[in-house]
Formats: sequence, structure tokens, C-alpha cells
Amino acid sequence: MVKVYCFSGAGHSLSVAKYIAEKLGTDVLDVNKCGHADKKCRVAVVVFPVYCQNIPKKVKEFLKKLDSEYVAFAITYGGMSYGNVLSEAMTFTLATVVAGALIPTGHTFLNGGNDFDKEQLSLFIEGLKSTEEITVPKYRKNIFADFFPEWRSRISVKISKSDKCIKCNLCGDNCPANAIKEGNINSNCIRCMKCVTDCPNNALSFGTGLILNLYLNKKRRKRHMELFL
Ligand SMILES: Cc1cc2nc3c(=O)[nH]c(=O)nc-3n(C[C@H](O)[C@H](O)[C@H](O)COP(=O)(O)O)c2cc1C
Ligand code: SF4
Ligand code: SF4
Repeated sequence: MVKVYCFSGAGHSLSVAKYIAEKLGTDVLDVNKCGHADKKCRVAVVVFPVYCQNIPKKVKEFLKKLDSEYVAFAITYGGMSYGNVLSEAMTFTLATVVAGALIPTGHTFLNGGNDFDKEQLSLFIEGLKSTEEITVPKYRKNIFADFFPEWRSRISVKISKSDKCIKCNLCGDNCPANAIKEGNINSNCIRCMKCVTDCPNNALSFGTGLILNLYLNKKRRKRHMELFL
């Protein structure tokens, strides 16, 4: 049995997960809401984004508890850098890793769209039939990548609430970091932008700081999906 799990902030990884799930005739399970029984399966496809060249903390916790025989990673990133995330993800599971994909999508902070290469992703889905462990190169990541990544996101991105907020607390109910209540954000926030994306009243918006803007504008973007099958 194949299960598709997803962690997603602004919806890029969710688009990929939905596509994979549809092709496999199943539903997407939310990493943040999975119970103990949901975490057991034969083949797990885990879809998640790169945040600051790292695996989001919630995904690391999830992988440690995932009880599958085989696992495949579909990792989205904003075309900047994926650090060494695929290789690192492999260290969080005892399952045999049968496929990996590094998938460039739009960048959350550039309001990028959710497009991805569907043809390439079909090859990834085919790869789920394998039972052979893949080998993955160890990539170099930026020397600052492990320096308080969540704190760096917090100081670089400001989230503001407008008077359109109706205090429904949908944002609070769905936040993966327990970082918001009725539109008011606390210091647990990882700037995943789920609350901004999902607010039914568009009451939340974000702005990026100067250094992040320079980084987002200058760096050459990677454009091609990389597959490990
Ligand atoms: C906090 C944060 C940090 C990010 N760091 C990186 C990064 O290091 N490299 C990169 O290429 N994209 C980075 N991105 C962009 C996301 O990886 C990319 O847009 C991804 O598809 C977002 O998926 P999601 O919408 O499912 O969360 C970052 C996005 C966020 C919100
Ligand atoms: S989801 Fe939007 S409207 Fe509802 S409490 Fe949060 S910010 Fe306010
Ligand atoms: S409060 Fe922060 S961590 Fe929670 S959904 Fe919003 S951006 Fe993500």
C-alpha cells in the first residue's frame, strides 16, 4: 500500500503531493495531522519543502516516527539551493529509500506559482515500483545553513495582520508550529506562510527585508528537476 504524506506552507509541495496522490489513486495525508496508525504503510511518499537549506523540523519529527518498508522523497525548493537535504532526509528513516526528486517550484517569498515538471514527476512515480535503495551524492551546503535557520527566516520576513481579520482562528488551527492565534504571531513562527496563504479573508500579508531581497534577486536559479531512481 502506498501513502502520500505532505508538509506544505504556501502550497507548492501540496500541489506536487496532490499530483502524485492522484496518479496513485490515493489521498494526501497532512504530516501535521497524521495519527499513529496513519504512519504505517509499505511504501511512503513524503513530499516537503526545503526551508533555509534544511528539512523543516516537523518533517524530521515525522520521519523518525514513520513506519514504512520503503520511502520516496519528493522535495520542493524555490530554485535557489537545496543544501544537502535529500541525503539528510535519508538519515532520518530506517526504511529503504527507493526514489528521490529535487523539484524546483516557485519561491514562497517571490510569490512564485506552483508549477512543476509533470513529465519528470511521472518518472519519479514509476520509480516507486523499485525495491532497491538509491544512492545520492552528498551536496555541499552554505556555511550559514545550519546557523539558526528559523530565526533567520523570522528576522528576514515580517508578517502583518490587517483589520480584515475576523478572529476565526483558522490560522491557529492549521499552523504547523503553534505560532499564531487569531492572526497574532508569536516567536515559534517558522515563516512557512501557511497562515498567509490560507486565511479566508486575506487578512495576513508579508514583506521581506533588504538582505533577503538581495539574495532572492541575485542568485542564479536552478530550474531542472533532479531524479534519483
Ligand atoms: C522559510 C523558507 C525558507 C526557504 N528556503 C529556501 C532555500 O533555502 N532554498 C530554496 O531554493 N528555496 C527556499 N524556500 C522556497 C521553498 O523551498 C519553495 O518555495 C517551496 O516549494 C515551498 O513549498 P511549500 O509552499 O510547500 O512550503 C524557502 C521558503 C521558505 C518559506
Ligand atoms: S485565518 Fe485570517 S481571519 Fe481567521 S483569525 Fe487567522 S488571520 Fe484572522
Ligand atoms: S504563524 Fe508562522 S509557522 Fe504558523 S502558519 Fe503562519 S507563517 Fe507558518
